[in-house]
Amino acid sequence: MKRTLGVCYYPEHWPEPVWSEDATRMAEVGITWVRIGEFAWSRLEAQPGVLTFDWLDRAIEVLGSQGLKVILGTPTATPPRWMVDKHPDMLAVDAQGRPRGFGSRRHYDFSHLGYREECRRIVRLLAERYGKNPHVAAWQTDNEYDCHDTTLSYSPTALKGFQDWLAQRYQSPDALNRAWGNVFWSMEYDEFSQIGLPILTVTESNHPHQLAFRRYSSDQVVAFNKVQVDEIRKHTDAPIAHNYMGRITTFDHWKVGADLDIASWDSYPIGFLSDRIENSDARKLKFLRQGDPDNQAFHHDLYRAVGRGRWWVMEQQPGPVNWAPWNPAPLPGMARLWAWEAFAHGAECVSYFRWRQAPFAQEQMHAGLLRPDSVPAPAYAEAQQVAWELADMPDVQRGKAHVALVFDYESAWAWDVQPQGRDFEFWRLAFAAYRACRRLGLNVDILPPDCADLSGYKLVLAPGLMRLSDPLRAALATFEGIALVGPRTDTKSDELSIPVPLGPDLPDCDVQVVLAESLPPNAKVKLQGGGRFRHWFEHLEGSATVHMSTKDGHPAIMGNDHIRYLAGWPDDDTFDRIIGYHCDILDIPTMTLPDGLRIRDTDTHRFVFNYAPDSQDWNGTSIPAAGVHWEPLE
Ligand code: GAL
Repeated sequence: MKRTLGVCYYPEHWPEPVWSEDATRMAEVGITWVRIGEFAWSRLEAQPGVLTFDWLDRAIEVLGSQGLKVILGTPTATPPRWMVDKHPDMLAVDAQGRPRGFGSRRHYDFSHLGYREECRRIVRLLAERYGKNPHVAAWQTDNEYDCHDTTLSYSPTALKGFQDWLAQRYQSPDALNRAWGNVFWSMEYDEFSQIGLPILTVTESNHPHQLAFRRYSSDQVVAFNKVQVDEIRKHTDAPIAHNYMGRITTFDHWKVGADLDIASWDSYPIGFLSDRIENSDARKLKFLRQGDPDNQAFHHDLYRAVGRGRWWVMEQQPGPVNWAPWNPAPLPGMARLWAWEAFAHGAECVSYFRWRQAPFAQEQMHAGLLRPDSVPAPAYAEAQQVAWELADMPDVQRGKAHVALVFDYESAWAWDVQPQGRDFEFWRLAFAAYRACRRLGLNVDILPPDCADLSGYKLVLAPGLMRLSDPLRAALATFEGIALVGPRTDTKSDELSIPVPLGPDLPDCDVQVVLAESLPPNAKVKLQGGGRFRHWFEHLEGSATVHMSTKDGHPAIMGNDHIRYLAGWPDDDTFDRIIGYHCDILDIPTMTLPDGLRIRDTDTHRFVFNYAPDSQDWNGTSIPAAGVHWEPLE
């Protein structure tokens, strides 16, 4: 597969005479794709029903005449001001019950059916007009669902939608009362219309109530996206993508992804390091200008799976961003390294955000490939280098993994609702397991929670799954490798209550979690032979074999030859040791990589990425800071 570069461009921000010069320069850089349109609603429809698409026709033509392919974004993340006058109740409402105002973006409530219809209308108009345009070769729905915490909204519209959703799911208030355990504290309902949103209660609202609202809210994102996809598909066969974000779990990406052709995500490694990824202060300083060495790869692997193999980076950080607490510039070379790491994970396209830095409005401090004065910014030459290298590079195939990690959005909601220990978070646990694999030099595939086919994998990791789905449990029953599940896996019912008999319910493996402890950050449970659990520790019983114990004699890993339960949250070294030990049993080769050096094997090559701020030795080759090295695989 030919890998390509792209860029995000806003013709509506620049005088029309500049467009053709921009298009010429884009082609000179070696760019193939240009994403446009996703925030342009006020220029497409300045007043209700007054449509001005002629400028967009011309912009597409100018880009297309340079051989560039357009990804057309639907503008639904930025409803214009008149829309709010027309639908005053379309604004999302925060958990304190306050409406979120106009004057930035994403000021809509996913539950608002009137706004959903407005979106259907504008998307239909765009699809009718551009569906057969030869230059429009892909589509993007909306922009970054949940950006600025917008999945959850506590509006009157959401309340009504939630009540209807509950009636459908539970059929009777009695069934809901039983499922939620509402006899506790006399919380029983007689009518669905009595059920409120799970906010502003005196103390925490009931966990299944909160989980139901999370499920409802995720379903609204899926439905909102589907409306757009259905309209676009009526007029084109071009692939449709959405640009997901890093570390966002508030809606089920597997379900949104099922309606799309391509998963893409927006990769801002330095912004994320600053405010989204746990690292010591010293480590944050070490990777200040490079980003966390594992965060990009994790999302590449996740979205490759969400896209069923087809995935892109829709927005790639080119220089300082504007939105993190601190915004340092990347080390020279990083804009190239990040792109190559994505390609080595199978990205079809890496698209830099944005072409030219805007001298106005909220993101004026956000770098682009060009400075505001149109002089090339540092990433310009790096993008050009990647384009030359891609032209020389034979096919980059995506590579096989022996190790798989199961990732589940419902579990993320379950533990958000009921963390039981302040720092228990599903994403963080899954990422801790993933990072250990990366330190061991392993390729990892990420799997959905209802995965029914584990063939080809030797080691499957399933930490923190609220419950095992039936297909996954069936797949585990015949799995010939080793599945390492836990902590906290399959210990809850679908309604977030404790199952009796106690979980987990593992095929042919008698082990139960009889008690769970959460631990403050400075506490640990020591393991025999070295290592420790932090954050979380479960007491296990059953007749399964104890494979590892704590220092004071509790089981730490219990199971059989094919499935094992891990009773706690290992710290980094211990995760390395436990995963490495199972790789040894399974004949999966591992290595111990220095902090900052990371590898990825494609079918033909080994790629080595140096995230460290200084050069690193790789088998006698010195790889400079921010360097990428590749060598053929034997
Ligand atoms: C993304 C967003 C873009 C832009 C960018 C800035 O989250 O999709 O529109 O805001 O961040 O880094």
